[in-house]
Amino acid sequence: MDSADDQILPERMCPEAALAALEWQIDMGADEAIGDHPVNRFDLPETAQRAAGKGDGAPAPPGQPPARGATEADLPAVDPVTEAERAAAAADTLEELRAAMAGFDHCELKKGARNLVFADGNPAARVMVIGEAPGRDEDRAGRPFVGRAGQLLDRMFAAIGLARGAPDPEQALYITNILPWRPPQNRDPTSEEIAMMRPFVLRHVDLVAPDVIVLMGNIACQALLGQRGITRLRGHWHELGSRPVLPMFHPAYLLRNPAAKREAWADLLSLHTRLKNQEKPDGQD
Ligand code: URA
Repeated sequence: MDSADDQILPERMCPEAALAALEWQIDMGADEAIGDHPVNRFDLPETAQRAAGKGDGAPAPPGQPPARGATEADLPAVDPVTEAERAAAAADTLEELRAAMAGFDHCELKKGARNLVFADGNPAARVMVIGEAPGRDEDRAGRPFVGRAGQLLDRMFAAIGLARGAPDPEQALYITNILPWRPPQNRDPTSEEIAMMRPFVLRHVDLVAPDVIVLMGNIACQALLGQRGITRLRGHWHELGSRPVLPMFHPAYLLRNPAAKREAWADLLSLHTRLKNQEKPDGQD
């Protein structure tokens, strides 16, 4: 046997062995496929041409793609936050908002994600829960909070009679995240990523029009309240526009720090009381 024969070559593997090898790697914590040689996937052909300076010098008319061979200097400057505000404001329904986010190309996270994770649950729910960003399980499923943290989130809200699957808005939850695409290696979102996706979240809140918003963890608080420091913020009611907002510990934090479940339980009771006491628009109870 030469050294090449010692290697397990994919073409010699039966599908079952390949699947077992893949599952083993996932169990070991591998969540990215890395090749032997780096590939710059952002270096698209048009970009390469621009970098080579083959432009004809004519800037593209507004709203038109740049001419083939245009130089970097020919491109009109685009502010991703302004673009996001424009796209979000034009969405009049949740489906339109989802489409606007799917068509938003200024966030690099989109390129590394399998799915856009938009939302889950009942859009008529009184309570809207906003988390940080999808993890590996959510990226695969295309739904927020389906991994371990999501299972804990479901148990937490079930303890006060709320569930994402409930058809009755009184008992339902609607769940989304600040970012719809998974950051690589679950790193923290950057301030730029948060700023450019924030207009979509604000529009999302307007379209769902919940009675109460629950912010899970620091990133959601940074994005929507402009503040970090969840240990200080949690359990205190804030406002977003005129809507009451309750910051809570993120369930992923609670998995790492089970002693903090005591505070989380107090916050859930505060939410429960608020929902019971908050007047409904039609005055019914
Ligand atoms: N953590 C989040 O903040 N959101 C998810 O969807 C999953 C984990």
